[in-house]
Amino acid sequence: MIKINILVMPLLQSLLLIGSLEAGCPVYLTVSLTGKTLQDTFLEINWGPNCYGPPQWVGIYGQDPTISNFQPDLRIDGLANSTGKMITPIKLGKLHFPGGWNRQDDGDQPVTQYPTGKCLPHYVASYNGTELLTVDCLKIQPNWMAHIKDVSQMPLKNIFLPGTHASGAVVGSSSKTNSILVRDYLVAQQFDVWSQLIFGIRYLDFSIGYKNMNTENDADNFWIANENMLITPLLGILRDVRQFVKRSGEMVVLDFSSFPIGFYKHPEVYSSLFRLLRQELGDEAYRRNVSKNEHCADRNFRKILLQNKHHLVILFPSQELPYPENESNLICPPWQRFSSSFMNISQTLDYMRLLFSKKTNSPVRDDGWIFTAVSSMEQTLNAHQLLTAKQRAAVLNPKVNQWLKGPWGNNANVVAMDYFSNTNLVDLAIQVNAHKAFIMANQDYINLEILNLA
Ligand SMILES: *[C@@H]1O[C@H](CO)[C@@H](O)[C@H](O)[C@H]1NC(C)=O
Ligand SMILES: *[C@@H]1O[C@H](CO)[C@@H](O)[C@H](O)[C@H]1NC(C)=O
Ligand SMILES: *[C@@H]1O[C@H](CO)[C@@H](O)[C@H](O)[C@H]1NC(C)=O
Ligand SMILES: *[C@@H]1O[C@H](CO)[C@@H](O)[C@H](O)[C@H]1NC(C)=O
Ligand SMILES: *[C@@H]1O[C@H](CO)[C@@H](O)[C@H](O)[C@H]1NC(C)=O
Repeated sequence: MIKINILVMPLLQSLLLIGSLEAGCPVYLTVSLTGKTLQDTFLEINWGPNCYGPPQWVGIYGQDPTISNFQPDLRIDGLANSTGKMITPIKLGKLHFPGGWNRQDDGDQPVTQYPTGKCLPHYVASYNGTELLTVDCLKIQPNWMAHIKDVSQMPLKNIFLPGTHASGAVVGSSSKTNSILVRDYLVAQQFDVWSQLIFGIRYLDFSIGYKNMNTENDADNFWIANENMLITPLLGILRDVRQFVKRSGEMVVLDFSSFPIGFYKHPEVYSSLFRLLRQELGDEAYRRNVSKNEHCADRNFRKILLQNKHHLVILFPSQELPYPENESNLICPPWQRFSSSFMNISQTLDYMRLLFSKKTNSPVRDDGWIFTAVSSMEQTLNAHQLLTAKQRAAVLNPKVNQWLKGPWGNNANVVAMDYFSNTNLVDLAIQVNAHKAFIMANQDYINLEILNLA
């Protein structure tokens, strides 16, 4: 009897905790897609899904409202609907990551571990009169994977990995061009790759272009591309990824998914890119056992880390290399990809139902898979509107985010978005993974207890 209590109590507590998180009316902050610059971008508040009793009012604060009675910077009354989103006049401001997590911070100094995330100075609290109902903040998640108990024992294919599409397509000082075409239609993220990783993104998608720049260093010839344009050099991004995994110990999946410029019928260019990856990332990349045709998505994070502390899983089409046999242990064959690119919203919903409900007719196989939630320029042209990449993401992302909050989220593997910051994709993935890891770790025990009780 005593033994049962000891074992059952944490289980019950955990189920109650999960229940209480889902109850009530969650209110959270995201970064809108409104600003010309990131610094000038407005924050947005989100509430729901399914707030049956919305709070009377919501306050936005620059400091933690639970430690003192600060006046809110902004007060919003009367959230009538059960689910919603509202852009505020509060700007994101200059990004500064605490705890040694800025890119320019000294990488040799130890960083502060933030197992449950760390708030940036933007908080949102909801109230009924003076009664505090919820508090949340805009937060970074540089260590979430390592700190979810038991997630490291789950195969990669069963982990919900929050991702970005066209991850390197960011405007920056080193960008090739700042034309309106590039800025409005080809740039796909407002946070650079370093910041994406700090916010908790763990899957990066790269489209690579090759152009001979006539420099001494072959690395200078490789660029991030999007829709047939070169956007920004690849090398700095690879170094950011490497620096991040060394500092954080997190696992990141890098997907070299397309090669639109300069690769066609040039296996030697693929080879040259592969050499660059081996040189820059080789000592951090997971090496699979080629002789038993190992699927990287079947491995769990703990095994990947145990193998000499390797943190990167590199997806790359090895068949394009001239000698795939002697090069393919460093790279994993690509995972299955599904994209909503050419679909409207209702078709996207149907497609997600097919993919995420894991019914027998689902095309998703028992391996790693990626759902890319994007809508292409062509798609909006069909509806006779020319929407910018931000406008398209502003419509699509919140919907996909909401649909994943139901049972479908449990079946997600990689979900990748353009401009992910107008969603709470990372928090959602963390919640789903914690829940799944808990169920997995207790499965044997639960089954056993049911047998014993019967
Ligand atoms: C807010 O307070 C009112 C009256 O005190 C109560 O009826 C209502 O259920 C409360 N709402 C929430 C969300 O707690
Ligand atoms: C609530 O929903 C209604 C109908 O869907 C809409 O007209 C209204 O603008 C929404 N209000 C808010 C505050 O979002
Ligand atoms: C790879 O797999 C083969 C066949 O299962 C096994 O004999 C070998 O020891 C493995 N190699 C490593 C490095 O694990
Ligand atoms: C790969 O193998 C081929 C022949 O099988 C050989 O010519 C080539 O040098 C090898 N490359 C490397 C990097 O080992
Ligand atoms: C989406 O596309 C389908 C097929 O072209 C069409 O039947 C449907 O009306 C469209 N839905 C919307 C909301 O535009």
